[in-house]
Amino acid sequence: MSNTDQARESLYQPQYGHFIDGEWVSGDSGKTIDLMNPCNGQVLSRIAAGNERDVERVVAAATKAFSSWSQSSPNERQELMVEIARRLKARLEDYAMLETLNNGKPLRESLNFDLPQTIAQFELFAGAAFHLHGETLDYPDAIGLVHREPIGVCAQIIPWNVPLLMMASKIAPAIAAGNTVVIKPAESVCLSVMEFFQEMADILPPGVVNVVTGYGADVGEPLVIHPDVRKVAFTGSVPTAQKIIQYASRNIIPQTLELGGKSAQIVCPDADLEAAVEGATMSTVLNKGEICLAGSRLFLHESIQEEFLARLKVSLEGVRLGDPASIETQMGPQASVMQRDKVCSYLELGQQEGASVVTGGSRASGAGLDQGNFIQPTIFSNVTNDMRIAQEEIFGPVTCAITWRDEEEVIRLANECNYGLAGGVWTQNIGVAHRIARGMQTGTVWINRYYNLKSGMPIGGYKQSGFGREFCFDVLNHYTVTKSVIVNLQDGPMGMYAQ
Ligand code: NAI
Ligand code: MG
Repeated sequence: MSNTDQARESLYQPQYGHFIDGEWVSGDSGKTIDLMNPCNGQVLSRIAAGNERDVERVVAAATKAFSSWSQSSPNERQELMVEIARRLKARLEDYAMLETLNNGKPLRESLNFDLPQTIAQFELFAGAAFHLHGETLDYPDAIGLVHREPIGVCAQIIPWNVPLLMMASKIAPAIAAGNTVVIKPAESVCLSVMEFFQEMADILPPGVVNVVTGYGADVGEPLVIHPDVRKVAFTGSVPTAQKIIQYASRNIIPQTLELGGKSAQIVCPDADLEAAVEGATMSTVLNKGEICLAGSRLFLHESIQEEFLARLKVSLEGVRLGDPASIETQMGPQASVMQRDKVCSYLELGQQEGASVVTGGSRASGAGLDQGNFIQPTIFSNVTNDMRIAQEEIFGPVTCAITWRDEEEVIRLANECNYGLAGGVWTQNIGVAHRIARGMQTGTVWINRYYNLKSGMPIGGYKQSGFGREFCFDVLNHYTVTKSVIVNLQDGPMGMYAQ
């Protein structure tokens, strides 16, 4: 084994159990799931394949911890979050490497996107500990008090595409508001999340955040239907969300759901083409397209379409594919064989549907690529908005270019989609920019810079992209319930039943 391999292996454990009540415990069944490196198919570590009995234990721990954590002071909660952020910063490079090894995202993205965004969540919600307050209403004969209370044990189920950031955006607001958490990371990619709890075990009060690992159906269902669980937050696919809603109906618990996307990126005739081509490149290759916010429907005005596609082709063909752990690499492999195969099936479908391949269109091969799940960054042109490749979430480095002629038409086309998570507009005209942004049925619109994520700005969906807003203080409403207390200021009875 090389020195580099040894140094990387020292960053994580060969195996992880569940993290329950501040302790690492082995799973009930003894069965495990391998965490793989999608760049070479090698096993990195193992996690426990949890079951119903593990869920019982983990919910019991969170339930017990709720009685004290819900009474903790804002200072205590703020301090915890500040310390987590400090430790993440201190080992930023280690965590970035873990994210890269297990997910396949390039190290330059883990370092410059995933980790800073993750840290920002703890910093944002450190402030929220003091921001949670009720209100008072004054009446001539009464005072109304609205208390804001934590909701209880929260089940949080997260995906494999941005594991640390998903974990942060879920646990930070929940614990800032005084709740306790059971988090279930994705079974394919969660090395960074497991190592996070390994490191933070000494500062997390026992039972406040617990981790149970395993396959979705084995662990997710018993968790969400557990009578002591009071809320579920989920990020992932629509079919799984439909099941989560059914589970949640058992005990009538509220849900926040952040699902897929097929976001429209609209390029107007007067756009800064250099910037817009960069935006379209980034939107195609960032995290190998495994991002719910990807602008995977690219609406090009007919007057600039030809030039735009020619430039985009050059840009994408210059993207450096390779070992994501190398700082030079600009795009890594898809996170799993399953995901790779799904993307490949859409590459075939696109050709069957009559789209043309501008660039890419198949698996990437060559030195260092054959052992991994690499796919060429792909642009389809001659796409119509009703094709399946234009309507379904591919979750890979594949963007569909669609032609448009007038503003009304492009807004209509952008909205002809079951999803509505993000979107982009490229124009120098402020009126056009805002008219299109207003017209788009979507939760986020980026004007003249795609993926311009700003701490505190809400993220969430219209339509089948889900509901509830995260990454912002608004999410605190999902993690709290109000209690109205009305104090009567008048003496004596009202006299309603006076004899
Ligand atoms: P998924 O929705 O099945 O998985 C997400 C999480 O849900 C994982 O932790 C998984 O273990 C859990 N889960 C699965 N079945 C469950 C069940 N019955 N009960 C409770 N939890 C369950 O997504 P999957 O299968 O990994 O990916 C399929 C597609 O979903 C992707 O190709 C992509 O299109 C979309 N997706 C969207 C994401 C987003 O960020 N909105 C993230 C991940 C996937
Ligand atoms: Mg699934």
